[in-house]
Amino acid sequence: MSSGLMSENGSSGLDSTAKRLWPFFSIGTEERVLTKLRSGNLAAMHIDPIIDEAEQLLTSTLSPGSRAIFCGSGTDALLSAYFALNLDADAEVLVPTNTFRATVTPMMLLGLRPVLCDSTPYSGGIDLVDAERRVTSKTQAIVVTHLWGHPVDMHAVMALARKFSLRVLEDCSHAHGACWQGRSVGTFGDAAIYSLGTTKMVSGGKAGVLFTSDTEIYDRALIFGQPKHRATAHLNDASLKPFTESGFGVNLRGSPLAAILVIDHLQRLQETIAIKNKNLAKFEAVMSPALPELVCPKRDERWTHGTWYKYQTRWVDSVLSRDTLVMTLRSAGMRVSKPEKGLHHLPLFQYPEILQGRPLGTAPLCDPRAYLVTDALLEELVTWDTRDLYDEDNDVVNRYAEMFTIVASQLDPRRAVVMK
Ligand SMILES: Cc1ncc(COP(=O)(O)O)c(C=O)c1O
Repeated sequence: MSSGLMSENGSSGLDSTAKRLWPFFSIGTEERVLTKLRSGNLAAMHIDPIIDEAEQLLTSTLSPGSRAIFCGSGTDALLSAYFALNLDADAEVLVPTNTFRATVTPMMLLGLRPVLCDSTPYSGGIDLVDAERRVTSKTQAIVVTHLWGHPVDMHAVMALARKFSLRVLEDCSHAHGACWQGRSVGTFGDAAIYSLGTTKMVSGGKAGVLFTSDTEIYDRALIFGQPKHRATAHLNDASLKPFTESGFGVNLRGSPLAAILVIDHLQRLQETIAIKNKNLAKFEAVMSPALPELVCPKRDERWTHGTWYKYQTRWVDSVLSRDTLVMTLRSAGMRVSKPEKGLHHLPLFQYPEILQGRPLGTAPLCDPRAYLVTDALLEELVTWDTRDLYDEDNDVVNRYAEMFTIVASQLDPRRAVVMK
């Protein structure tokens, strides 16, 4: 990738590790955006050839064999998916508590009841043993998130789904290009979604996509989120035609400008994955000797790594707190943070009556004390913003090496003081 062909974005302050921060786009793409902008045809009300092109490339790159619906965000794609799955009004849905809120919250608007499940240690994905314990006669679906690009064991998920006749939705928002035992994530379940927003490995700034090979799910997602022209043109089941005109009160169409950006990233996804993984290996090679208490994520040989989106390490020092570490890393110039808490700590799951008139009732949806593995894991993790690792730039790793040396030299005397 020649930097002469790419646009630059600035970096300052805590961002000083990178020449360029992800997402960046080719000059050709910037020109294409400008051309589209000047065309004045931006609403994608009708079938837009750019969205068509993006959907075809999304399918061939991420989810061969299925069909794509380009949406305004990953959250939009999730809302479409929950409508499209056509579950009973009071159905229960098994979901990970260790995920981004939008994996779960859109279903609540539709009256579906999320059943938060604990996590497996280390990878942090949904714990299927805990999930099975929470199955009731009302359970109709399971949702998994391939968190931080670590694929969930999809063979085990599908076995559980078969045992209890559950629909399966995969949230692949962190896992563009990742595989479970050689097969792309998102191609195992009934439907899959990806966020294509913010700093994701395929980013349209703000966009998302729903994939499915199930005609009923596809049709219902169309009439729900893509009313009128798109739904009318692509619907398979003629009995749903009467609903294409009205829609259901939402407009979840993606923007063609975002589609142009997404096409850029899809065209060089494999190259981006290779660079990111190479940079992460170098990053680990300078971090581990300096800070051996900062443990790299465990690799599973059944994963093929795609994105790593953000990267998480565990802090296992018995003397110095994670707060001290994070503060010291940040003051040395590194972009790190503590992860957010599990969803079971969010007030929405304690006070569902806020969703007035919905059938979720007033009783708390979970016992926040029942997610011990997730809580323990999230207490140890340090999240790295890896936007500076998408470029062939050896300097960035050298700068990390310098910063780690500084941090180690600052932490050692503090450790000595605490141990006295
Ligand atoms: C796992 C996961 N699911 C869903 C979403 C929602 O995507 P969006 O921000 O595009 O609405 C995100 C966003 O970061 C996410 O991380």
